[in-house]
Amino acid sequence: MSENIRLQGEAIAIREFSLDDTDDALKIVGDDRVTRWLSYDSRDREGARAMLEGALSRRQAVQPRNEYYLAVAAPASDHMIGFCRIGLSGVRAGKLGYAIAASEWGKGYATDAARTMIRFSFGELGLHRISAAIGPENQASIRVAEKLGFTREGVLRDHVFTNGQWRDSVLYSLLEQEWTEG
Ligand SMILES: CC(C)(COP(=O)(O)OP(=O)(O)OC[C@H]1O[C@@H](n2cnc3c(N)ncnc32)[C@H](O)[C@@H]1OP(=O)(O)O)[C@@H](O)C(=O)NCCC(=O)NCCS
Repeated sequence: MSENIRLQGEAIAIREFSLDDTDDALKIVGDDRVTRWLSYDSRDREGARAMLEGALSRRQAVQPRNEYYLAVAAPASDHMIGFCRIGLSGVRAGKLGYAIAASEWGKGYATDAARTMIRFSFGELGLHRISAAIGPENQASIRVAEKLGFTREGVLRDHVFTNGQWRDSVLYSLLEQEWTEG
């Protein structure tokens, strides 16, 4: 059994998924306003559940853990209002991803969640480099990365196939020595 992660942000918490999160997960990955910016199309309830089951089973099966795919939980209720993920790849490197339910946008939750994951990644996980691949027109996500001190590296051409077409990503990165709790 791997460790049970729970990280406290300023307002949100980051915690392991549970299958009880299925309906809340569907509100995120079943919403075109959200998935428009992700690397996959909107999912139905079965797809939302499969996403949670996949993360939970990889957590058990892959040791040492090579991904931290976690729920962003609302203040007080602890209900899932988003997710964030660090996938470990390369030498002390990780790829960061996040999404927040559209009803909760603009409250600072993505910045809070990403900051909390970055602190965990440079701290407990000992990472040196964190990258994020963001759609060139995804102004909200670019703003989150820039608020946290990420640097734009360049364009990944035709990086993802989503919503019926190839899409570039802009690659952003943050190095351990640059991290100032931004
Ligand atoms: C990107 C996303 C996670 C941001 O979530 P959020 O909780 O609303 O983010 P925050 O409130 O922490 O910060 C958003 C920032 O973007 C800004 N912003 C939002 N929309 C914007 C736009 N269209 N143009 C410019 N800035 C914008 C906000 O004003 C805020 O900046 P501020 O604090 O300086 O005012 C959310 O929009 C989302 O889930 N999008 C779909 C999935 C996604 O894009 N995931 C990331 C893939 S790389």
